[in-house]
Amino acid sequence: MIKKIAPSILAADYANFANELKRIDATNADYVHIDIMDGQFVPNISFGADVVASMRKHSKMVFDCHLMVVDPERYVEAFAQAGADIMTIHVEATKHIHGSLQKIKTAGMKGSVAINPGTPVSMLAPLLPLVDQVLIMTVNPGFGGQAFIPEMLDKVKTVAAWREEMGYDFDIEVDGGVDNRTIADCAEAGANIFVAGSYLFKADDLTAQVQTLKDALND
Ligand code: DX5
Ligand code: ZN
Repeated sequence: MIKKIAPSILAADYANFANELKRIDATNADYVHIDIMDGQFVPNISFGADVVASMRKHSKMVFDCHLMVVDPERYVEAFAQAGADIMTIHVEATKHIHGSLQKIKTAGMKGSVAINPGTPVSMLAPLLPLVDQVLIMTVNPGFGGQAFIPEMLDKVKTVAAWREEMGYDFDIEVDGGVDNRTIADCAEAGANIFVAGSYLFKADDLTAQVQTLKDALND
């Protein structure tokens, strides 16, 4: 699987998205990871589809939208129209995860399913024939800058083994506490899309910092 870096705009300057998108575009990163939080599914509130639509005018990169939102199926059309490429929804956030993923795909986006650290990996099994991406949360969702939970690597390994066994080709994304040390363990476990927020944006030189992740993957 091709390995990709997805800087999380959650850690960027919210008052200056146009410029932050330009900075991300100038790096060797592959996606822009966009965290949507509703203050219900997670305690924090970020922003919604209208802001994503505005961001779309400033970037041609792949928009990897991660909805930490209750009943996310309500927003499928809005995100499709806003220009989202990938829409991730949580198994814990809807009564109709299978139908919601179908809806995302019908709307022309890639369908992706996420699980929280406390959710058993078996919840994913019935969804694997349907998804383009699985997101294993490696922190509890809601905030950037939290410590990586190493026990989540077993989930990555399990999903990667199922993928191999059944001949699927979905991506496996990890999100939370990813830095130049934890990224190698994630890759070894079978992840190939790596979200990083605070690690990337704490540096003045975003391009060099993205490169440290790419280098850690190549070591
Ligand atoms: C957490 C978000 C993450 C967050 C990661 O709820 O889903 O995408 O931005 O931030 P770091 O990389 O700082 O853990
Ligand atoms: Zn995220």
